[in-house]
Amino acid sequence: MRKKIIAGNWKMNKTPAEAVQLAESLKGSVNSGKADVIFCVPAIDIIPVAKALEGTNIAVGGQNMYFEDSGAFTGEISAKMLLDAGAKYVIIGHSERRQFFAETDETVNKKVLKAIESGIIPIICVGESLTQREQGITVDLVRLQTKIALKDVSAADAANVVIAYEPIWAIGTGKTATSEQAQEVCKAIRDVVGEIYDKNVSEKIRVQYGGSVNAANAAELFAMPDIDGGLVGGASLKAEFEKIVNY
Ligand code: PGA
Repeated sequence: MRKKIIAGNWKMNKTPAEAVQLAESLKGSVNSGKADVIFCVPAIDIIPVAKALEGTNIAVGGQNMYFEDSGAFTGEISAKMLLDAGAKYVIIGHSERRQFFAETDETVNKKVLKAIESGIIPIICVGESLTQREQGITVDLVRLQTKIALKDVSAADAANVVIAYEPIWAIGTGKTATSEQAQEVCKAIRDVVGEIYDKNVSEKIRVQYGGSVNAANAAELFAMPDIDGGLVGGASLKAEFEKIVNY
């Protein structure tokens, strides 16, 4: 049985002081340990939030990193910096980074490799636009994104990564994929992982759904056989996150 994994993606919200407040207000109610729970916070919030969560089962994650260890890369942060600050996970290749910050499948792969080498678990985001869905290429596209993201990742490491299927048309729009649509693509991701590696890896890897997950739809989505939890944006900044984690 795969343990569910539910991550809040706080995006560019909350100053360090506000982030500590939110973490403090949520930590008691999302800490049952039944699912892995992660707060993916802005980089500058990682240290104070990690401190606020000490003694709980809740992990902290970053939302991006660069694929080099150090050097003349103004504005970037490395995997080692994230780790040292207290992050255990990092979101890689979120569609907002692909859209606004020129992230490509190739940079996603480099970041995934560097995260793994550094001891951080990547949460790799894949997903199609509305046009791509209407063109009927969703599964082909997501398979390709998954294959490139995992290029040169060993089977042992692949079993530990998390893949988040996030249809772009469902992010922040209130338009959730139906549980059947989400299941179809999450299964396709698991199948391609099985083709690259083997059944052992495909049965271990955790695949999340993300895109307008809320307290009303979480239980149905997470009950699908190939959906191992969610990557939650808007609803992770509210008390509602408690209902999602304890669905
Ligand atoms: P949303 O965002 O839950 O607000 O749709 C999800 C995400 O972007 O990870």
